[in-house]
Amino acid sequence: MSEKQLLVSKIENGIVIDHIPAGKAFLVLRLLKLDPTARTLIAQNVDSKSLNTKDLIKIEGTYLTSKEIDLIAFVAPSATLNIVENWGVKEKRLVQLPILIEGIFKCPNPLCPTNSKYTPPRGQFNVEGGINVEALKLHCTYCGSILYYGSILEYINSDAFTLEGGGLVSKEKIEQVFLDTLIKKGALRLPPSPEEPFILKSGRPSPYFVNLGALTDGESLTSLKWAFASYIALLMEQGAIEDFDYIFGPSYKGISLATLTCEGLKELYGMDKRYMYDRKEEKAYGDISADRVIVGAGYFKQGQRILVVDDTITTGSTKVETIEKLHLLGKHQVVGLVIAVDRQERMGDAENIAKRGPVEYLEDELGLKVFSIENIKTIFDLIKGSLDDEMRRLWVEYYDKYGTISLE
Ligand code: CTP
Ligand code: ZN
Repeated sequence: MSEKQLLVSKIENGIVIDHIPAGKAFLVLRLLKLDPTARTLIAQNVDSKSLNTKDLIKIEGTYLTSKEIDLIAFVAPSATLNIVENWGVKEKRLVQLPILIEGIFKCPNPLCPTNSKYTPPRGQFNVEGGINVEALKLHCTYCGSILYYGSILEYINSDAFTLEGGGLVSKEKIEQVFLDTLIKKGALRLPPSPEEPFILKSGRPSPYFVNLGALTDGESLTSLKWAFASYIALLMEQGAIEDFDYIFGPSYKGISLATLTCEGLKELYGMDKRYMYDRKEEKAYGDISADRVIVGAGYFKQGQRILVVDDTITTGSTKVETIEKLHLLGKHQVVGLVIAVDRQERMGDAENIAKRGPVEYLEDELGLKVFSIENIKTIFDLIKGSLDDEMRRLWVEYYDKYGTISLE
């Protein structure tokens, strides 16, 4: 057995970044922006057939490789990216710099339009390759200024360096970013006391309330955009949902989610989709198929595929209405429904409690695949430590009575 095999064991599922030039593993890690909880193995200066010695990074778990992962080529142009599934290498490719880089780097010219004080456009650079990585240059597409390799590396190493998406995305990371935003921005509310629960539309006395309507600031929207786009890209990469043409957001809350998701998919993952939404009140004039009920339907072609996004799912009846409204489009296919939070409750109201929850109902009756970024069991597990005994009992009792899951 070689020294490499002794040092570095195989993994079941995850990502292996191999053939990193010796000593560069930590710089690569900066570009990956891994969450600190990721199970990661970093090997430095191990033997290599092709490179003499090399560094190597193994990350266990299911990850999405966003297009930013290719920025690794700035520090490790020889790196190979291996996606490991079920102990085997499912996919292997070299990292490769894009021709054009948007955002990320700042133009060094203070007079460049991208550095103007008022609404500057995002930085944009053409990448010029060289014989070796040190000869790489970036040309600003606005003013022609050049960023040389030294300043590129310096910037990657500095505190100012940020990546909007991050090169590697996991479901856990998406959940964490999303829940942080919910809590920090007051979108997850707890009652002032156990005696004053929130009365829901269904009449049920709930120990919490999730309101994405509270997320109205730019910082929250950036997180929402990232979370929705990343989760959808991850589901597609896993083959859980098939490709689609449109994102549909039911009015009103779904509209902003659909636009954000649409923008995020393009910006972060290079996927160009269209979005649509419905009017609650039908317009009295205009073309029924173009925009009288469904805005954005003018571009729709028969047989196209639609992904529905929304904030929460409570009774499921609004989702059924949405699915029915989509029949106005003619022949189409709904590839799935992606929601922010699944309350994991049974259908019905305060007295009438059905056996199934809306997710099961939509899946069983309409054959709709439903995915949620966050569910209440995970949220409860994370916050229960900060609830007092009585409040915790309220949650547990509520879910014993109305839940499709039980809490403890
Ligand atoms: N690997 C792993 N766990 C697995 C399978 C592979 O950690 N279940 C790692 C290997 O240790 C290696 C990398 O993934 O570092 C690529 O695996 P493989 O293609 O089998 O190795 P090589 O042929 O050496 O790769 P290359 O052709 O890129 O040199
Ligand atoms: Zn410039």
